Amino acid sequence: MANLKYGNYLQLEKIVSAQSLESEKRGKIAHDEMLFIITHQVYELWFKQILFELDSIIEIFASDVLDDKKIGAANSRLERIVTIQRVLVHQVDVIETMTPLDFMEFRDLLVPASGFQSLQFKKIEIGLGLKKHARIPADQDFFRTRLNDAEREELEDAESKPSLLERLEIWLTRIPFLEFGNFDFWSEYRSAALRMFSKEKQIIESNSDLSEHEKGFQVAALDGTSRAFEELLDKNDPQRFESAGHFRMNQRAVLAALFINLYRDEPILFLPFRLLTNLVEIDELWTTWRQRHAIMVQRMLGTRIGTGGSSGHDYLKKTTERNRIFSDFFNLSSYLIPRSELPELPDSIRRQLGFYFGV
Ligand code: HEM
Repeated sequence: MANLKYGNYLQLEKIVSAQSLESEKRGKIAHDEMLFIITHQVYELWFKQILFELDSIIEIFASDVLDDKKIGAANSRLERIVTIQRVLVHQVDVIETMTPLDFMEFRDLLVPASGFQSLQFKKIEIGLGLKKHARIPADQDFFRTRLNDAEREELEDAESKPSLLERLEIWLTRIPFLEFGNFDFWSEYRSAALRMFSKEKQIIESNSDLSEHEKGFQVAALDGTSRAFEELLDKNDPQRFESAGHFRMNQRAVLAALFINLYRDEPILFLPFRLLTNLVEIDELWTTWRQRHAIMVQRMLGTRIGTGGSSGHDYLKKTTERNRIFSDFFNLSSYLIPRSELPELPDSIRRQLGFYFGV
């Protein structure tokens, strides 16, 4: 369009006139309220971009056949989200140029509005895979008490659609690397793990710096890890795996993710491994943002309650610890063994791993 102008295209008139200071309406401008509004608006714009990428990634995983090109596209978009998240974490620096005393100039005017009512933030959590029942009780309560019917419905609608975690679980479940013909990979892996545990036990028992009590404690911890290995690797007893409750995903999906981690150097597993790494990165950065926000809130409010009525810093500390999404991929690290101990794969399987696949 010949008449297209920078300002029209970006609809700047709307954007730059969208800052309406509550303090000004009451007759006395609080200087830092402008920064407070603009910082939140910038966050919301980035949330919009994250949701745009996330929806398209979930769509990619809806496909019954996922070839390398599609995994490549999903990875590039996940990496874009990761890069935006780094910016989101750093942006806390900007709001921290406001002092607690300056915040007090307008804070009371904001009640009962709260960041908790950011629908886009909640939609990102939901899209990634955080379910309502997995949220901390106060967070579940706020869905009922701090949102209106339309907002609640919007979030319930988002939750009724498959999340990225659910789509990933389906994809991992159908990955064919768990069937190896006559070669029983998982019992080989189990034997290698048991050898590793018995070496570790010897190291503990021969460590003269440890008291008998400390040795007993460390051996008990090692036995716990060894039991968790058995629960995961026993493919004939999925019930045992489920009742152990270490993972959100099903056993087959977890084993596929473990295999991808272990044999990431095989060409066929490069892209799936990058994908799993990106998910870990997203969870870590989301948690890092929560930590930074929680500490910033403590700096601003001390132990006061939030404008939304939560316990403030304490509530945010709890959502930081508990509202995690891809914890399964973090937990996998407990089930790794060193490369040097990995079972040697038969040639026929190595050949399969050298080629393109589409599942
Ligand atoms: C002076 C700056 C800020 C203060 C004092 C503050 C304070 C709080 C408090 C106390 C809560 C807990 C809910 C409540 O009781 O209101 C909260 C939640 C939240 N805030 Fe902030 N906030 C600030 C800046 C920001 C910024 C810049 C964002 C960016 C979007 C943001 C996003 C959120 C979100 C998404 C939640 C919900 C988190 C959850 O439920 O896990 N906040 N904030």
